[in-house]
Amino acid sequence: MPNEDLSNNETLRIIESRRSIRAFTKQNVPDEILRILLKAANEAPSAHNQQPWRFFVLRGRKKEDLAHLVNSRSAVFPKPSSTLLRMAARSIMSAPLVIGVANTGELIKHGTNLFKVEKEMAHDFFRTMEIQSSAAAVQNMLLAATSIGLATVWLGILFLIKDDILDFLGEPQGEFMAVVPVGYAERSSRGPQKLPVEIKVKYIAD
Ligand SMILES: Cc1cc2nc3c(=O)[nH]c(=O)nc-3n(C[C@H](O)[C@H](O)[C@H](O)COP(=O)(O)O)c2cc1C
Repeated sequence: MPNEDLSNNETLRIIESRRSIRAFTKQNVPDEILRILLKAANEAPSAHNQQPWRFFVLRGRKKEDLAHLVNSRSAVFPKPSSTLLRMAARSIMSAPLVIGVANTGELIKHGTNLFKVEKEMAHDFFRTMEIQSSAAAVQNMLLAATSIGLATVWLGILFLIKDDILDFLGEPQGEFMAVVPVGYAERSSRGPQKLPVEIKVKYIAD
């Protein structure tokens, strides 16, 4: 292992090359590829292995309805939220495929009964665990997409209208996690630069 050449490591290359893409060509994403993305997301680690995520696949008219919903709701927000919502609507419209992600709350129920600690603390803890688990699933999906030449963007701004989104997805009791347009990039992006990792790390040494 210490002598292994990692400069050609495919996983590391994919992690580094993933960038958020917000405009897509009209090229369709076949169902076999969609299944691969969903399976990759579903392979994520999850607290208590509760796999709290649910995925919602939108194409065609339904996907356009979602874009219209986001556009119409954007009007009640001040700038810059209204602008970001309209940008999100444009990405949804442009992508051939959109995947919504919501949590079910099952882990919260399961954990609160299991732990028998103060209810509020248990709720906070397991809600956080659900969110973190689903975030891992979304990232798996983004990386799998990158690895097969697809482009994605994680749309968190829709949290501002999360009740409308959850109603639209038919999961009104769920917790909004993400909406991810998926397709082929209209143009590639090198994305914003990452800060050097050194400034993010503190080595706790003796
Ligand atoms: C939780 C989360 C929410 C995000 N929400 C949005 C969003 O609503 N709209 C958007 O255009 N990009 C969104 N992004 C993408 C970020 O803007 C992007 O990841 C960041 O600028 C770094 O660029 P990169 O993904 O190309 O590395 C989100 C990313 C994450 C992780």
